[in-house]
Order: sequence, then C-alpha cells, then structure tokens
Amino acid sequence: MTESPPTHPTATAPKPPPTAPTPPPTPTGAPHAVPGTEPAPLAFPQDRTCPYHPPAAYDPLRAARPLARVTLFDGRQVWLVTGHAAARALLADPRLSSDRTDPRFPATTARFDAAGRRRIALLGVDDPEHRAQRRRLAPRFTLQRANALRPEIQRIVDGRLDAMIAQGPPADLVAAFALPVPSMVICALLGVPYADHEFFEEQSRRLLRGPTGADSMAARRSLEEYLGTLIDRKRTGPRGDGVLDELVHGQPDQSPQDRADLVDLAVILLVAGHETTANMISLGTFTLLRNPQRSAELRRDPSLVPAAVEELLRMLSIADGLLRVATEDIEVDGTVISAGEGVLFSTSLINRDDSVYPDPDALDFHRPARHHVAFGFGIHQCLGQNLARAELEIALRTLLERLPGLRLAVPAEEIPFKPGDTIQGMLELPVAW
Ligand code: HEM
Repeated sequence: MTESPPTHPTATAPKPPPTAPTPPPTPTGAPHAVPGTEPAPLAFPQDRTCPYHPPAAYDPLRAARPLARVTLFDGRQVWLVTGHAAARALLADPRLSSDRTDPRFPATTARFDAAGRRRIALLGVDDPEHRAQRRRLAPRFTLQRANALRPEIQRIVDGRLDAMIAQGPPADLVAAFALPVPSMVICALLGVPYADHEFFEEQSRRLLRGPTGADSMAARRSLEEYLGTLIDRKRTGPRGDGVLDELVHGQPDQSPQDRADLVDLAVILLVAGHETTANMISLGTFTLLRNPQRSAELRRDPSLVPAAVEELLRMLSIADGLLRVATEDIEVDGTVISAGEGVLFSTSLINRDDSVYPDPDALDFHRPARHHVAFGFGIHQCLGQNLARAELEIALRTLLERLPGLRLAVPAEEIPFKPGDTIQGMLELPVAW
C-alpha cells in the first residue's frame, strides 16, 4: 500500500558496515545466542535509507524476533528487543532500569557516553523516585488539558501557515512550520518566553546532536542556566499561568536541591516538548507527500486524521532505540538476559511486528495501530503523548486543508534527514504549493 519505494539513495552519512567487529565478551559472561540461527551481531543504530522505514540492514533482525544481539559503537554487545509482546512485557518490568548513572548502562554514541551519563529527571530515574516526579506533573498533561489547548494550538498553526503562505513558495517546512509550532505550544504551556526560541532550539539541537560530548554537555549547562534564571524570576515576579509557574508556586520554600530538581524537570519538558513533535510533523508530512493516495484519502475524509496520526506514529517510530540495563536475570522465551546487560528497544522493528500488524510496511489508516510503542510503554511512557497527538492532528489536518497543492520542491532523494543515532526527522523539507 506504500506507494513509494523503501529506499532513499542520499542518506545523510556514509554508514558503518552492518556487521560489526568481534566484540568483547559481556561483562557477566552470559550466553549470547538466541535459540535457533544466530545472525552476526549487527551494528546498532544505523542510518535509515528511506526516512520512514527502518534501515534495510535491520531486515535480518525482523526474522530474529523477539530478541537479537547487536553491537554498539564501542564494541559492546547488548540485547535488542524487536518483538511487540516481549517489548511491552519488558518495558513494564521493574528489573530493567533507566538509571544512566549505572556504569553498566548502555550508550549508543560517544556523545551519550560523554554527556548522557548523568542523573536526568523522569526519563533517567526508577521507581519510587520516578513515581514521585511523575505524580507531580501528570495532572498537567492529561487528555483534558491537552484538549483544552486545542484552540490555542489551532491559532498557532494558522499563524505559522499564514506567515509561510505570505512569504510565498518555496519554503522550508521545517523552519517555517514543523519546528515553530511545537516550540510555541510548549512555551505557552510551560510559561517560557517564545522570544528566546532561537537560543533554546539551538541548545536542544546541540544537546541531542552536538558534534562531541563536550558540546552536548555545554548545551545542557546553557539550558540549565537559562531555565534556572527563568525559575528564579517566576518565584519573585508576578505569577504566570504556565506549568513552571504552577510548579514554582506549588513549592514555596525551596531548598537548593529542590531548585536543581525543578531545573532538571524544566530541561526535559522543554527539549522533549518541541524536538520530538517537530520531527513527527516534518517526517509525517514527507511521508504523506511520498504516499499521495494516502494524503488524498485524508483530504477526502478528515475524520481519518486521528487514525492517520496513530499510524504515522507507528510507522515512523522516531524515537528508535530506547535504553535500559538489566538489574537482575530476566528470562524471555527461554533466553536469559543477565543482570548487568544492556537492553535496547527498536521501536521501529517492534512497531512492524507482523504478528500484530499484518503487512507492517504499508501505511494503512484503517488498521488498529493504537498499541504501538512509539511513545514507549510502562512507567516511562511519554508524558506528553496527549499533547503531541493534539498538535499532530491539528498541524497535519490544517496543512492538508489549506494547501491542497502541497508538494516537494526538490526531488525526494535530495532532501536531507537525520542520522540514525538521534531522534528521526527531516533536516530540511523544501516544499511548494
Ligand atoms: C510525537 C512526539 C513524541 C514522541 C514520539 C515521544 C516519544 C517518547 C518516548 C518513546 C518516551 C519514552 C522513553 C523511554 O521509555 O525511554 C517518551 C518519554 C517522555 N516524553 Fe515524549 N514524545 C513525544 C512528545 C512529547 C511531548 C510533546 C512532551 C512534552 C512535554 C514529551 C515529554 C516526555 C517526557 C517528560 C518523557 C519522560 C516520561 C517518563 O520518564 O516518565 N514528549 N517520549
């Protein structure tokens, strides 16, 4: 059903060979073999060849469900979860830890190894600490709250499209629409001045995709300083109505540790709140433009938009490679994941498990796609998913409605997209209408 071929000749960077050099033994000396034929351990992650399909080099891993061995950039072998049922069981299993300060925690890049091995709020803590942090925020990210924001999101989407249309074609949809929409929404929600967007968008980009670990760390420190100053201003100044204002005023007597915790939360909310959704809008639009029968279907029947968003989330799986470490031995279908081993989740392969999604590479708005793991699963399942769904529905529906002639302004093969070691999305999206 996907109309375009699953190849994209100009992937952003030349890739390492799919088969990695012989890795050192696991720290625990645990057996590596998955029962049955054991494929050579592939390097993970790799760049996609088509931005909306998993890399073709992962094909052998599809046959090795639910678990495979892969090799990380540093030669370490870890488990890669590729089966849907195993993924949901393991993501809900307290024997897998998200604690990045554990020296056994796996790293997918040298940048992560240098900058990511620190305590980070929510995403990097286990229960019971995680539960306490999540409880503090959950009431602010309910479906009702996200729905109440819909008129404001629509106003922001219309404003960005007005500005893009007024400038006339061609336009870079990433700079004109996909990035500013979620950036403006998260600013309004948190109570962060959008006037500072160039600064924090650049720091977020460096944090997630900086050239070195030192650069990513410096970007994180700039974000912490910026948000720390903002939080101090909120404490002494007039009370605004953002989530950060609520958090600051909900805790009037703050210790230095409380302040540091709040800054930590603010960083993750600001970064996760705009980078991810921006990538989904740009890659989602590219995918629709490469599948014109599907965009025509949505234009004819906009009531399909929520189902289309779910299917695009499944298919694009932009956060591909969730990270955990096993703290105890865990048996999965007769295979033992040993304590201390790294466990990664390939959301793109899990979301294409053909025992759950028949014809998994097809973009089909009529399938029940809702149980995908594009937002993760278990205690760390995306806090912002209701907000992200509202933004994606409004952004994609309005884009298709208002620009019936929307098309790529250059050949698809020339459009650069993000490398495999970060959140997937388009680097640019030149469009005309
Ligand atoms: C389409 C857009 C988005 C996608 C695909 C996405 C994906 C994810 C995934 C896969 C996780 C789980 C990570 C793991 O288990 O290791 C996660 C967690 C999280 N996301 Fe999102 N996200 C999106 C939008 C947002 C938005 C708009 C926010 C707004 C604040 C947000 C905030 C968070 C936070 C705070 C967590 C950590 C939750 C926890 O650990 O309890 N995300 N997201």
